[in-house]
Amino acid sequence: MALRKLVAGNWKMNGSRAALPEIKAIAAAAAAHGDVDVAIGVPATLITPAAEAAPGFAIGGQDCHWNASGAHTGCLSAAMLAEAGAQFVILGHSERRTDHHETSAEVLKKAEAAVAQGLMAIICVGETEAERDAGQAVAVVTQQIRESLPPASTGATTAIAYEPVWAIGTGRTPSTADVADMHAAIRAELLALLGTAGASVRILYGGSVKASNAAELLHVPDVDGALVGGASLKAADFVPIIEAARA
Ligand code: PGA
Repeated sequence: MALRKLVAGNWKMNGSRAALPEIKAIAAAAAAHGDVDVAIGVPATLITPAAEAAPGFAIGGQDCHWNASGAHTGCLSAAMLAEAGAQFVILGHSERRTDHHETSAEVLKKAEAAVAQGLMAIICVGETEAERDAGQAVAVVTQQIRESLPPASTGATTAIAYEPVWAIGTGRTPSTADVADMHAAIRAELLALLGTAGASVRILYGGSVKASNAAELLHVPDVDGALVGGASLKAADFVPIIEAARA
């Protein structure tokens, strides 16, 4: 049975209060398309204003610490995100794995902390271009999943975002055949790790999703949604992707 699709935006380090009308417009479109789940991960400074601007709409963060509190200058705990109004958190994005040297073991601890605070964890995985060229894409991605995914994950607590690093922000995407192969491999890994719960965990595709390619990508088998960066910043770009996710 097809899972309900989740179209999540990742605003990265973009957006200020001036962008709240975009959140409101996206939330209004989401309410009008109740058959698709829609969410936006905003900079931490915008979690509360965005949640207040769009009551009931799923606002999230883009990282959290695994500890509840303590001497971690500049970090935010999962409880802090939840208190600010977040409903989910994006974890292990390649920009964090690369720029902040996050390991899968750390992503696992972050995901455990997030779920314990009632936040859905969107756990990002993906291979570099060199790894794909070397024929290691599936091995790299499935290892990241084995090491980053809490063993008690279900579809209610966790989603996976498969984002080939070379497709993020580049305008390049894998072929639909390559997406299908990777998502099938991820599904098999989830079933092996989680048993029947593995069938309920949504697998999002991310990396240069836009209005013009969304329908094709979102209807590949085992693509249960999308994680969208640049094309999530404006309602005019993002709403057509929500519409493309509909059956
Ligand atoms: P992009 O980013 O859609 O701009 O390629 C996706 C992501 O990094 O989540």
